[in-house]
Amino acid sequence: MNALSCKLCSFWSSSIGKKTVVALTGIVLLLFLPGHLIGNLLFFLGPDSINAYGIFLHELGHGAVIWIARFTLLACLIAHVVATIQLVRQNKAARETQYACKATVTATRSSRLMIWSGLTILFFIIFHILHYTVRIAYDFDGPAFQTMLDGHQTLNIHQMMLVGFSNGPVTIFYIIAITCLCSHLSHGVSSVFQTLGLRTEKSASAITAFGNLYAFAIWAGFLSMPIAILFFGVGK
Ligand code: HEM
Repeated sequence: MNALSCKLCSFWSSSIGKKTVVALTGIVLLLFLPGHLIGNLLFFLGPDSINAYGIFLHELGHGAVIWIARFTLLACLIAHVVATIQLVRQNKAARETQYACKATVTATRSSRLMIWSGLTILFFIIFHILHYTVRIAYDFDGPAFQTMLDGHQTLNIHQMMLVGFSNGPVTIFYIIAITCLCSHLSHGVSSVFQTLGLRTEKSASAITAFGNLYAFAIWAGFLSMPIAILFFGVGK
């Protein structure tokens, strides 16, 4: 084993190393969400806007960019989850010391909430990728979901969203999962600053406010589409 891999191994096996991995991969995932949301909000501008955006994403860099983004997101998600699970195990082992004072009990409660919201999000992401990327639920690759745009046949993402969110149970699941996502994000933003040593007594309340604002914007934005479609028939 060379010196670099030795250093990487001892970084990964330390608690601070894993926390840093959780924070850095968390930042990548936090940056992805506003981008994904802005793209999805094109739904409200009509079929041509969101379908053209789909073509743009799939053709960017001759189709390479979307795959690089997918692999980066997947790698970050796996590292984020694995490092978190290992941290939880380490914390469990040190539980006796954790219950020694009230402050750590509060911290444990909040981390428990992070674990459960995190697991719901993980389940949601698997479901969501099967739903919209792999498209196993409906015949999204069939003729009913193809449309013409600038003389080219393309996937009708607008129609996919209409059909997907006209299903009550699926939409309710999206609403629950996105609400868990928000609880996770509001805590997550503060944790990132804390782990990277950027949260001071002075900046703590501004960071908490920023985390809440960010989480609320993501929550309202992502919920606007399923709610508009299922409850108000928007786009139909
Ligand atoms: C109303 C909410 C949402 C809608 C309508 C939506 C829509 C979509 C669509 C249409 C795709 C397929 C893109 C493609 O391959 O062409 C997709 C992929 C994806 N979405 Fe969402 N999404 C929503 C919420 C979310 C949330 C909350 C997350 C994260 C927690 C998320 C994470 C992903 C990921 C990781 C992919 C795979 C990337 C890819 O296929 O390129 N989405 N989404």
